[in-house]
Amino acid sequence: MNKGMTMGGKGRSTRMPGPGRWMGLLLGAILLASPWWAAVDGAAAGPRGAVATVHPEATRAGIEAMKAGGNAVDATVAAALMLGVVDGHNSGLGGGCFILARLADGRALAIDGRETAPALATRDLYLRDGRVDGRLSQHGVLAAGVPGELAALAHLATNFGRLPLAWSLERAARVAEKGFVPGRAYQGRVRATHEELAWAPADAPEFAEFRRIWAMPSGRGRWRLKQPELAATYRSVASGGVQSFYQGPMARRAVDFTSRHGGLMREEDWSGYRPRLRQPVRTTYRGHEIVGFPPPSSGGVHVGQILGMLERLDLRAMGEDSPEMVHVVVEAMKRAFADRALWLGDPDHVRVPQGLLSKDYLDARAAGIDAGRSTDVRGAGEPPSATVDVFESERWRHTTHFSAVDAEGNWVACTATVNTSFGSKVVVPGTGLVLNNEMDDFAAAPGVPNYFGLVGSEANAVAGGKRPLSSMSPTVVLRDGRPVLVVGAAGGPTIISQAVLAIIRVVDFGHGPREALKGRRFHHQWRPDEVVLERSWGPRMAEALRSRGHAVRWVDSLGATQAVGVGVGGTLEAASDPRVEGLGATW
Ligand code: DON
Repeated sequence: MNKGMTMGGKGRSTRMPGPGRWMGLLLGAILLASPWWAAVDGAAAGPRGAVATVHPEATRAGIEAMKAGGNAVDATVAAALMLGVVDGHNSGLGGGCFILARLADGRALAIDGRETAPALATRDLYLRDGRVDGRLSQHGVLAAGVPGELAALAHLATNFGRLPLAWSLERAARVAEKGFVPGRAYQGRVRATHEELAWAPADAPEFAEFRRIWAMPSGRGRWRLKQPELAATYRSVASGGVQSFYQGPMARRAVDFTSRHGGLMREEDWSGYRPRLRQPVRTTYRGHEIVGFPPPSSGGVHVGQILGMLERLDLRAMGEDSPEMVHVVVEAMKRAFADRALWLGDPDHVRVPQGLLSKDYLDARAAGIDAGRSTDVRGAGEPPSATVDVFESERWRHTTHFSAVDAEGNWVACTATVNTSFGSKVVVPGTGLVLNNEMDDFAAAPGVPNYFGLVGSEANAVAGGKRPLSSMSPTVVLRDGRPVLVVGAAGGPTIISQAVLAIIRVVDFGHGPREALKGRRFHHQWRPDEVVLERSWGPRMAEALRSRGHAVRWVDSLGATQAVGVGVGGTLEAASDPRVEGLGATW
């Protein structure tokens, strides 16, 4: 166990008193007898810092960064880089991220590390004989955008952190080198991805590295996954700086390899990559300020829209988890996702109206909600001043979320992804770098669903240098000007719904973050026109929704949310979704 770390097991929350107190020593002595994470997989409360991620090793890296003198920014960077090693099917240096932070001095930051389409990409890139070939945007070299995660993390660390980036890189490189024992979830993703690639010839060179690195032995045993090439990549960035990644040998290797197999990326795409600094989206909900991520994420806009539509309804009077509540939230989700399909795209390329969040517009959208019946939402609404009052940009004036907070008052939320499991399944030989398949988040053709069943329009068409629309929704909630919750999720479009549900459970129903994450989930994304329900709701909820005219689809479990926030007792709680093998910890 790490001395001084504080933990809460599943279903309970333990707050360890300050160092030196006898209770802490006693608990510490007991926990020393077992691996420190064995005692912790739910959430914990404590005053100096808090981190929640989907993997204990990453949470530990975050906490250790703070113990080494870093702040929540350093914890975020350390956790992100560790996740790239122990959770590489979800995120890594070959992918992208959005970082939303509310700093101790009151500033709010939105750092956009989203991938960009190569300059040579064109709108018909994924059409063959006039039809979209989804395999091209999902697997192989054409699926990858230019990675942005490292550039965004470096910007964050350099400007707002205390530890050198090299500290976190080396910490993660050591684990990559020594190896780790992949958990059930990881092994499941490896197996599923191998099966998914069954269509590709077994010797297809672009997938050869994937198959080599992730050839897991069958059967039981504590097999360790070692990634020496990834360790070397991390160390080369630590010594050569971020420019060695974007302008040096890494970029060259990635470009050489992908272009040999028909890819479009050129070295200029890599050397020209810059993280974008954007203005966070600020909305309000029942006296709380909601700070969300702006386009090219759709998260901030639609979390704000859904809450904005719900604000005029009394969810508490309806009752938590009542059919009445679920129905109206579903109706608000539908309307928001219909707007997403038409209006949202990269603000550096298209005009995304701010009016989507105007009170009058949301009043008008919400007016169509019938408390007793599912309504047929035909499409997007007409927000005011749609071509003028747009999100600012420089031109026109399978994912992971983690949250970290420190006692100084820095609250950081980061959602990072290579998109679906192991991204494009292309690993640049000799580097351990998994290239993303974020190009599938573009609308390959109007109205044609992507991997997540999302449809889009012209606003999200493929274009060179453009960033594909995302649903990632790192969010900070403030009450009386002070942060009370930092939250986000993984799970494609359900990310938006998960963020909304977590916020409702905290704001409307008074739960702390840990309880909020336990709550049953549902989702509606307009198309397909169906409510997705977690099986734990049982048949009565499904019946209640069907009787209101909804189609229902079951899933075993929906998404993975990670949050840090002020618990009901007023202490800081780090909450990892009980649906995954993550860890929330404080120290
Ligand atoms: O940016 C997005 O919205 C997607 N690329 C996120 C993918 C994701 O959450 C995969 N996880 N299940």
